[in-house]
Amino acid sequence: MSKDIFGKALLDYQNGNYTEDIITSTNISDEDTLPLPYLFRDYAKMPKLEQKALQLCKGKILDVGCGAGSHSLWLQEKGFQVKAIDSSKGSVSVSKKRGVINAELKSLLEETEIFDTILVLMNGTGIFQELTQVPKYLTHLKSLLKLNGQILIDSSDIKYMYEVEDGGYWLDINANYYGELDYYLSYKGEEEVPIKWLYLDFETLKTACQTVGLHCEKITDGGHFDYLARVNL
Ligand SMILES: C[S@@+](CC[C@H](N)C(=O)[O-])C[C@H]1O[C@@H](n2cnc3c(N)ncnc32)[C@H](O)[C@@H]1O
Repeated sequence: MSKDIFGKALLDYQNGNYTEDIITSTNISDEDTLPLPYLFRDYAKMPKLEQKALQLCKGKILDVGCGAGSHSLWLQEKGFQVKAIDSSKGSVSVSKKRGVINAELKSLLEETEIFDTILVLMNGTGIFQELTQVPKYLTHLKSLLKLNGQILIDSSDIKYMYEVEDGGYWLDINANYYGELDYYLSYKGEEEVPIKWLYLDFETLKTACQTVGLHCEKITDGGHFDYLARVNL
């Protein structure tokens, strides 16, 4: 069971108690910081991929894993009807405090309404957790799509993280898919229960979409092995 350390950090920032950032690490990488202000970014500070995703939004929108609600807020200001969901209590509370009108504490698999656009951003495939779960999540997302609806999702091909000095890759062929990471997070000395976080390269996402009857196209590449994809019926 999550301690919702992510949500606590967002609440601290929202309440003016910003003193330190979230510390992250994975089974294949050292400690890094996740700056709290980044989660409160406005449009100008968003990566190009996210700006593009927002520009492609249409109709009734679901923001999955809304975090501090930054994407939902921008869309709401543009006049869109948005529903923001997150499985983190603190995140939903912060989203509401910031002005997201329709924010609910709910995990993706519990959602049942249907939408024209479903946004899953900031390594959106992360919430699938592991490769074997991708069909289940995609099938559920498919059930939430209107006939002409679209899912806008971003991720990265993290093969580069396994690159060794001679230009080759240090990949264990007996291991699981290389984008499956164990993700560790801590904040103010408190450690979160480790989670699984999935990075999917575009071709693997596309193949998985095909197996559940979804069409997947790449909209654009980001600057660093990342991409934005549009998935539809
Ligand atoms: C990397 S953060 C991204 C937050 C926000 N989308 C952004 O771009 O700033 C991922 C978010 O997804 C939420 N999350 C993870 N798994 C989820 C699930 N199954 N259903 C709903 N939210 C989930 C986490 O609580 C977290 O707030």
